[in-house]
Amino acid sequence: MAESRENWGSKIGLILAMAGNAVGLGNFWRFPYVAASNGGGAFMIPYFFALIVIGIPLMLVEWSIGRYGGKFGHGTMGPIMYVQAKQAMAPKKALIVGSLAGMIAFGVTLLVNSYYNHLIGWSLGYAFNSLTGGYMDMNVSTGDFFVKYITSPVNLIFWIITLLLLARAVTKGLEKGIESWAKLMMPTLYVFGIILAIRAVTLGSPVNPDWSAMAGLNFIWNPDFSSLSWKSAIAAAGQIFFTLSLGMGIVVNYASYLKPEEDIITSSVSMISLNEFAEVILGGTAVIPIAYAFLGPEGITKSIGLAYIALPNVFRTMAGGGIFGAIWFLLLFFAGITSAIAMYNYLVALLQEDAGMDRKKASLVVLIGYLIVGIPVCAEPILTKTADLMYFSEVDNWIGNYLLIVLGLIEIVVVGWCVKDSALEEMNKGGLWKVPKWYFRLFHQFLTPITIITFLLFFTIDYAKAGNFNLIPAYAVGTGLEMWALAGRMVVIGVLICGFIQSYKSIKKKYAKDLDGKVPV
Ligand code: PFF
Repeated sequence: MAESRENWGSKIGLILAMAGNAVGLGNFWRFPYVAASNGGGAFMIPYFFALIVIGIPLMLVEWSIGRYGGKFGHGTMGPIMYVQAKQAMAPKKALIVGSLAGMIAFGVTLLVNSYYNHLIGWSLGYAFNSLTGGYMDMNVSTGDFFVKYITSPVNLIFWIITLLLLARAVTKGLEKGIESWAKLMMPTLYVFGIILAIRAVTLGSPVNPDWSAMAGLNFIWNPDFSSLSWKSAIAAAGQIFFTLSLGMGIVVNYASYLKPEEDIITSSVSMISLNEFAEVILGGTAVIPIAYAFLGPEGITKSIGLAYIALPNVFRTMAGGGIFGAIWFLLLFFAGITSAIAMYNYLVALLQEDAGMDRKKASLVVLIGYLIVGIPVCAEPILTKTADLMYFSEVDNWIGNYLLIVLGLIEIVVVGWCVKDSALEEMNKGGLWKVPKWYFRLFHQFLTPITIITFLLFFTIDYAKAGNFNLIPAYAVGTGLEMWALAGRMVVIGVLICGFIQSYKSIKKKYAKDLDGKVPV
């Protein structure tokens, strides 16, 4: 049992750490371009729908199964899903469910950070370049600057600094590391976001009088029912998963350090509110209007380009742009670090739990792991001198998009359809407010699973149509970089296989008695 498990130091620390987990590059880098490229106002309708029907119910599930698993000394998805599922099914079946869940969480925490840590490093590097004038030279386009940046090995220093900072935070432990970093970085991030949002709404367009910041706000906030589509609905559901850190195992891991009777309902609602404020108010009000004012409705739909190419272009033409640029990239950096810490901690918990390592040693092993899996991500641009990032795209397509939804589905089906009423009881333990029975029936048992299944179905069809299931993913064909996309796919498959075996063995060892009546040797 949970003899020596760490706990969170304070309520505010817990909420800020959870908010730090959720508020990440997803809010400031991903949300603006996903929203913009899916019709702005048309995107926000399925976005709020997915928040209510998937985000909130699933968040309650993740907090609740995490806290429950923590009671047994577990902090990782495999054993946590096993003890959950075992309440309602034969141990052998629960073993498979747990192993599948553990497999996905392992893949996500190892591989999302393989590129995410680079994005954090770029943010730090760009903050530096904002202050030193790196991208201010009007004779070099910011697109060319970006290519130069990611193809130069020297800039990897910012990635290394990021990794060392992460290792330091996680080594120090829950309260002294994760919690105290969140207490410092989260408020700073909100202040930076507010400064940028104020700057943004007072901006006229130097390029085209029709592109004022106000027109940008209108673009994102004017619901446009006529351009609603399945494509934007899928993108919205995917964004809800990503931004709330759902289907990744990291909310579950943080929740496993809760005390058994600690209120999860108010805390999870606070976490969601802090995340949504950062996303739709700050992300939506700061980034979209700034970009709109300078780039217009077409210009803001570029993916990685929005944060690292389009915005620098804005900063260099704006008064005080160096400072605002630094504020923007530091905001990205803080947001990224506090999220990446959560993934890092998941893998540390895995090594503590399954290999009996202490926190310090486990942190070092994870550091080496992230160095290794991060190499192909930076090797591609450096070796090919291109910025197409096929390896990154392939890993992100499966690990950062598709599999999150699959893990969310496993969780909701186990809780809503298998464990049922005792899951509701567990959720409500210690709660100041309670989740009413009708809510659980309507959402957890009906709307949430049905909606996730529907989304997953359309998502799969969409992926197939886009050629993502082809032997060589369609987007890579003819770029000369097919091998990089294929390598990404191989790594994803390999890591998933390892993750499955790892979870399977870990559950089997801990619960040998349930599984075949034998005591482990
Ligand atoms: N919710 C996080 C975000 O919006 O960025 C998701 C996340 C990604 C968390 C990567 C952690 C991480 F390493």
